[in-house]
Amino acid sequence: MKYVHVRWKHDRAEEPSHLWYEVAVDKFQNRTLELYADGSAGFAIRGSAEDGSDDLEVGGTRNSTEGFPDVEEINADRQFEASEVTAAEFEHPWRKVLAARPRMTSLLTIAIDGPAGAGKGTLARRLADHYRLNLLDTGLTYRAVAHALLQVGLPLDNVSAAETAARQVDLAKLDRAVLSAHAVGEAASKVAVFPTVRRILVEKQRDFARTPPGAVLDGRDIGTVVCPDADIKLYVTASAEVRAKRRLAEIESIGGTAKFTEILADIVRRDERDMGRADSPLKPAADAHLLDTSEMAIEAAFLAAMAIIDDALARRNKA
Ligand code: C5P
Repeated sequence: MKYVHVRWKHDRAEEPSHLWYEVAVDKFQNRTLELYADGSAGFAIRGSAEDGSDDLEVGGTRNSTEGFPDVEEINADRQFEASEVTAAEFEHPWRKVLAARPRMTSLLTIAIDGPAGAGKGTLARRLADHYRLNLLDTGLTYRAVAHALLQVGLPLDNVSAAETAARQVDLAKLDRAVLSAHAVGEAASKVAVFPTVRRILVEKQRDFARTPPGAVLDGRDIGTVVCPDADIKLYVTASAEVRAKRRLAEIESIGGTAKFTEILADIVRRDERDMGRADSPLKPAADAHLLDTSEMAIEAAFLAAMAIIDDALARRNKA
C-alpha cells in the first residue's frame, strides 16, 4: 500500500489550522497534491469507491485553500484510511513526493506569448488544466478596456478614460463571450499602446500570477514584462497565412463568412502594431522556448509544451 502524506489546511477557528494526515491513495486515481505559497498543502482526489460503484470527487477547486471536506466526513463516507502523523514523520515522505511530482511546488508560473491566432489560448487552457494552475488570458484585460470605451462611444485614444477603464477591470469578471468580438481585439491593440494603461493592467496580472498555486498567463509581454521570472516561458507562433486560415475556419465553423485576404491583412496589421509599439512590444523573451505551430496540431503543440515544462521542472527540482 502506498501512502501520501497530506497536510490539511483549513480556516476553521475552532481547530488548529494545520493537521497532519496519512492517506491511503491506492484506491484513487488522479490524485493531486498542492503546495501553497505559505508552505501548507491541500489535496484533491478523484477516484471511485473500492467496489467501483461510485464516482467520487473530494477536494477544492484548483486554487482554493477552502472547501476541502472534513477528514471525518471523508472517512465516514468513503472509508479511506486517514491517520494522523507528526510533522517530523511527515517531513521525509513529503520531500520524496515533491521530488517525484514536479508540479507540487510553491508557485508555478508559465508564461505564454505570441501573436494573435497562434494557438496560445488553447494551449494555455490545456496546460492550466494539466498542471492544475490558474489561467489568465491577458488579452481579455486589454479587450475589457477597449470595450468599455466603445460602449460609451469614447475615442480609443482618450488616455485618461482608458486609464479609468483599466482601473475598473476586474479579472474575475472578464466576459469572453462579449470581449471576443473581432472589432474589440482590434480596438484592444490600440489602447494597449498606452504605457499608463499597461502599468495598471500589468499590476493586476502580476497579482494574479502570485496567487497560489500559480498560473498560466498568455499574452504578448508575459515573459518579458509581466512575469520576467516565470518558471517556463513559451513563445508560440505560426505564419500569418496559417493563422489567417485558422481564423477563417473558426468564423466559418460558427456559420459566419469572411474574406481570407481581409483576415490576413488584419493579422499583419495587428502584428505590426503589437511588435512595433514602444512599450512592451511583442517579442520572445531571451529565455523563451519557441514553438512554431504552423505545421502542428494543437495536440502536438500541447505535448511539445508539456515536454519542455516537465523537463524544466525536473531540472528545477534537482537544483
Ligand atoms: O490576445 P488578444 O487578441 O485577445 O489581445 C488583444 C490585443 O491586446 C493584442 O492585439 C495586443 O495589442 C493587446 N495585448 C497586449 N499585451 C498582452 C495581451 C494583449 O498588448 N499581454
